[in-house]
Amino acid sequence: MRATGLAGVAIVASLALTGAAGCAKKDTGGTTEAGVALVKAGTLTTCTHLPYAPFQSKDPSGKVVGFDVALIDLVATKLGVTQAIVDTPFEGIKSGADLNSGKCDVAAAGMTITDERKKVLDFSVPYFDATQALATQAGKEVKTLEELVGKRLGVQGGTTGEEYINTQVKEKNLKIEVVSYKDLAALQQALATNQVVAAVNDLPVWNEYIKANPGKVVVAAGFDTGEQYGFAVKKGNAELLKNVNDAITAARSDGTYDKIYAEWIGEKPAS
Ligand code: ARG
Repeated sequence: MRATGLAGVAIVASLALTGAAGCAKKDTGGTTEAGVALVKAGTLTTCTHLPYAPFQSKDPSGKVVGFDVALIDLVATKLGVTQAIVDTPFEGIKSGADLNSGKCDVAAAGMTITDERKKVLDFSVPYFDATQALATQAGKEVKTLEELVGKRLGVQGGTTGEEYINTQVKEKNLKIEVVSYKDLAALQQALATNQVVAAVNDLPVWNEYIKANPGKVVVAAGFDTGEQYGFAVKKGNAELLKNVNDAITAARSDGTYDKIYAEWIGEKPAS
């Protein structure tokens, strides 16, 4: 009798403890020591759209790595938390929907800062310069959009590359069949399998693809769109934005940025 009673007490006590821990976990978020609110305690949750090497892609072990990942890791370290990455379609990232719904704290997706996106996102200071580039299979180079009349040109849905091409096609009244793919992998696959004769995306991702698949694809033409990438937070999240900006600025001045650049992008172009 007695033994049972004690066991009963022990169980109740442990349930109470579990209950308390459960409550703490159920809390919708957490606040870091520095006073930055996060959607999940102890974690800097990042939304991205995979794959987008060299900015974010899975390594052979399945871990998401890349230039953006390394920079956001600096922010996480600064906040005393660890980064967790959520892979989600680009549309929800650039529209602000994912940040607004609390899916993540920050968006890091090789995302170009645009006026339209600035209306729905708060961007960090620029952390990378990019342009658009037209890739074709090696030996099948096309130098101008005019040469693509009557042919299929691939783009990635929701991106600045897609927007640039649609604008050009309209302005110049070019009868090109623009085909939109849901992610970079699908676009690159389409080019490799002749579904399209050329494909447009940001130059650094083509450079990375060519490094990984030498001799197959070439950058046949470039479009100097003068884009700059920014990380984004939910509109009004000034505390987190400050930490993101401070981490970028510090990394630029103490050499960390250059180290990360060399690791993921390669040699810096002479400026
Ligand atoms: N820089 C382009 C844009 O902002 C493409 C970004 C695509 N990024 C990605 N992770 N899928 O529209």
